[in-house]
Amino acid sequence: MSQLHQDSGSFRDPLSRVFVGNGEVVRAFTAIGAKDIEKVWKKASIQNALASGELIESNLVSPASVGLNDPWVTAMTHPLIPFISYPYEWTFSMLKDAAQLQLKLTRETLADGIGLKDATPYNVQFIGSRPQFIDAGSFEKRRKGDPWYGYRQFCEMYLYPLMMQGYLGVGFQQFLRGSVNGISPDTMRKLLPASIRRPRKGRLTHVVLHAAAQNRFADSDKNMKSDAANAGMNAQVLDATLRKLQGIVKKISLGDKKSTWSEYSERGHYIESSLDEKQKFVRDAVASAPRKQVWDIGCNDGVFSRIAAAHSDYVVAMDADPLVVDRLYNTLKAEKNEQILPLYVDLTDSGGGVGWRGQERPGVFDRGRPDIVMALAVIHHMAITFHVPLASQLDMFRDLTPELIIEMPHADDPMVRKLLTNKRDGIHDDFTLEEFERLLNERFTVKSKMLLSSGTRTIFHVVRKP
Ligand SMILES: C[S@@+](CC[C@H](N)C(=O)[O-])C[C@H]1O[C@@H](n2cnc3c(N)ncnc32)[C@H](O)[C@@H]1O
Repeated sequence: MSQLHQDSGSFRDPLSRVFVGNGEVVRAFTAIGAKDIEKVWKKASIQNALASGELIESNLVSPASVGLNDPWVTAMTHPLIPFISYPYEWTFSMLKDAAQLQLKLTRETLADGIGLKDATPYNVQFIGSRPQFIDAGSFEKRRKGDPWYGYRQFCEMYLYPLMMQGYLGVGFQQFLRGSVNGISPDTMRKLLPASIRRPRKGRLTHVVLHAAAQNRFADSDKNMKSDAANAGMNAQVLDATLRKLQGIVKKISLGDKKSTWSEYSERGHYIESSLDEKQKFVRDAVASAPRKQVWDIGCNDGVFSRIAAAHSDYVVAMDADPLVVDRLYNTLKAEKNEQILPLYVDLTDSGGGVGWRGQERPGVFDRGRPDIVMALAVIHHMAITFHVPLASQLDMFRDLTPELIIEMPHADDPMVRKLLTNKRDGIHDDFTLEEFERLLNERFTVKSKMLLSSGTRTIFHVVRKP
């Protein structure tokens, strides 16, 4: 009896489905899908991508051997990605690197007579800081005159979001989270002011032409495929488009250089010995048991994520400041770090799923389970700035994780006093160590705690009560 269950996000390709179970991922193909794969799988471009790791490790198996029957006629197994992340949790550099991978694979396979059925960033996943293409079902033998089917999707889900950030300084994440299909050409054309459109006209062909085509073809039954063939959509023309797009993507850069937290070090408020003690406390707590996955919430520059990584298999490092996360990503990438996954996640505004029935792309809490969570120097920001009560925060942590390392700044901590400066007197009177410990003890058992030598912060290692 199969232990597999169908992935809730896998239904858009009618020719294949993804199942998860038994510690692996299975991609099953219908008869038509299987034919597509058979025709392309042995080609050098695919084999090279497999060998380099740009394409996820894939082993062809019979569906019966993994417990699948009709209508599946062939199947592949893939290793589990340690943590599935979505483009709206990536930073600018992550989306840019994913776009470059998409274009590279599309060009290399095109030269081998292979077409990609789509171009969605949901087909790319990050292993730490390394992007990897995971949709082995995207490849098919290219038929004469085939356009690049993923072109519009590439624009909506990669190019326009990158332009939005690079040209306008507007974060793309809220748009990609708002629509699972990305940013439409028409929206993009309206967003870009004419002053930006004109000097960069060459680069904006992809916006302007698409928007025009969208309007023209919206209600028409015109056969765009035969149009493309007639227009000479041969491999050379497509390759030239892909090459140009590579150039455009390469040139788009992150405009913003500063953010609330990018110049931070709240650590500057710690006296040196407090920081050493905190690092030792965290190290001891993480190392006290084998850990498959650690989540570091409010990771900032990742100092504590790195400590956790030394004593665990994988760390998901989350922060609500996209610039901070972008910097962390680029540092990790330079080190070829595949153990720490940096993500842009605002804990006060996350959790819900998006897409079909809100389940196509599940919320961050439904995609993995940490063995231990670190919430260091972050709960006072959520409590005082965003008014999330300490009790609610602790409820969330109790639901999320069996173990927690959590830092509580006292009411007289300099950062707490600063956050309270512009708040009405009295509304955060319950932000005290005593109240925090009372709430903590209702939900967790304290394994160890330490007053940092600054005297204004206490750090706890706790386990969830049964
Ligand atoms: C004081 S720093 C702590 C950095 C690190 N954890 C440490 O202990 O040194 C606080 C970090 O929390 C992040 N942060 C604040 N509110 C957050 C939220 N709602 N969700 C996720 N991160 C948040 C900030 O962006 C900032 O990088």
